[in-house]
Amino acid sequence: MVALTWYGHATWQVETVGVKILIDPFFTGNPVAPVNAGEVEADFIVVTHGHGDHVGDTVAIARRTGATVIANAEIARWVGAKGVASVHAQHIGGGFHYPFGYLKLTIAVHGSSLPDGTYGGMPAGVLLTVEGKKIYHAGDTGLFASMQLIGDEGIDIAILPIGDNYTMGPEDALRAVKLLRPRRVIPMHFETWELIAQDPHAWAARVRAETDSEPRVMEIGETLSLL
Ligand code: NI
Ligand code: MN
Repeated sequence: MVALTWYGHATWQVETVGVKILIDPFFTGNPVAPVNAGEVEADFIVVTHGHGDHVGDTVAIARRTGATVIANAEIARWVGAKGVASVHAQHIGGGFHYPFGYLKLTIAVHGSSLPDGTYGGMPAGVLLTVEGKKIYHAGDTGLFASMQLIGDEGIDIAILPIGDNYTMGPEDALRAVKLLRPRRVIPMHFETWELIAQDPHAWAARVRAETDSEPRVMEIGETLSLL
């Protein structure tokens, strides 16, 4: 069984076969985070891009837990230089078989500079195959046509930003659902600040009406079990 927990914004935990994978662990300074960075456990931490609301508490959590940080080569090098002992660098289009499953970095249309201004390489999305389920976390991105190619892999759950301003808004995220054709889709990156505030239920109603995908609006702190 795969358990998916939302910590608000783009922060997720995927738990599978006793392994905890954190994606974009942004707790400190995140106004909606339900827990503190010091409370979470992780065996792996995946960072989609260098922005502060995605790198977040990666260094502190990895140093405390010994988690392996998975990111593009530039971000992996940066966290390694900050004292993270275990890093695994990948890059866009490349995947790797970890003990928990296969993780591939996909393209995202966005920026990726690190909090101190260091070049953070290209931003990424994450396509994770665990226990036969494909989970796509889009990271921060605008709409792009090759979401069609990602969708060709057969996505069980897509997690998409809908907040507008920095990423796709509701309209483009709806178009993304049509390209990705996931079995289920969950919105994120919309509830953190006024600037990106959206009504996820209104968006979900449009997904239900206009696509074959099943929308699921999660509560912050909620865990969804994928059987
Ligand atoms: Ni960003
Ligand atoms: Mn962001």
